[in-house]
Amino acid sequence: MNFSKTITYWYSENKRDFPWRKTKNPYFIWLSEIILQQTQVKQGLPYYEAFVSTFPTVFDLAKAPEQDVLKLWQGLGYYSRARNLHFTAKHIVSELNGVFPNTYSDIIKLKGVGDYTASAIASIAFNEPAAVVDGNVYRILSRFFDINTPINSTKGIKEFKVLASTLIDKEAPAIFNQAIMDFGSRQCKPKNPNCNICPLNNSCLALKKNKIQALPVKLKK
Ligand code: ADE
Repeated sequence: MNFSKTITYWYSENKRDFPWRKTKNPYFIWLSEIILQQTQVKQGLPYYEAFVSTFPTVFDLAKAPEQDVLKLWQGLGYYSRARNLHFTAKHIVSELNGVFPNTYSDIIKLKGVGDYTASAIASIAFNEPAAVVDGNVYRILSRFFDINTPINSTKGIKEFKVLASTLIDKEAPAIFNQAIMDFGSRQCKPKNPNCNICPLNNSCLALKKNKIQALPVKLKK
């Protein structure tokens, strides 16, 4: 079985059950991705629930006073996320008739949305094959393919994005992207991953070369 099929099969058996995985509503997916930008899932979960129930539609969020939005955000940190969230909700209502943009190239124009978040929303809500690349993806790909390019170099950023884009399951991008997120956090962990039970262990180059702890390479800046 190849890399992508192995990852998606692993996900079918091991996936984490999150509330944002029970919906295809782009507004909810966007909320979850903004909350999870600099926040661990465990910490972000109650905030996601609070935002969804307090502001069940983009119209509710757009018409709320900024103070209410910031209040609900309290404790999460990086408050520019909350301000951009509110700004973008108002923008979607006033400029886009309340319709969430449905392609990567339009989603990335939204304030507070970068490559990772645009890829996550486009793939999860609209099944566009846009590859997410975060720390998990850097770790998995650098190990599996034994890639030594520093992940925080311009060359590395490009190289990993291109590789992830070729690997993404074109038939099931939503599943593949979430599968690789979970695979990184539960199987291909930063420290002491249990490679004995890894479904990729017979073709992982870093494992073969005893380099698991050495990858990914990160430049000290
Ligand atoms: N981190 C960022 N986006 C995520 C998602 N959709 N599921 C789990 N963790 C994430």
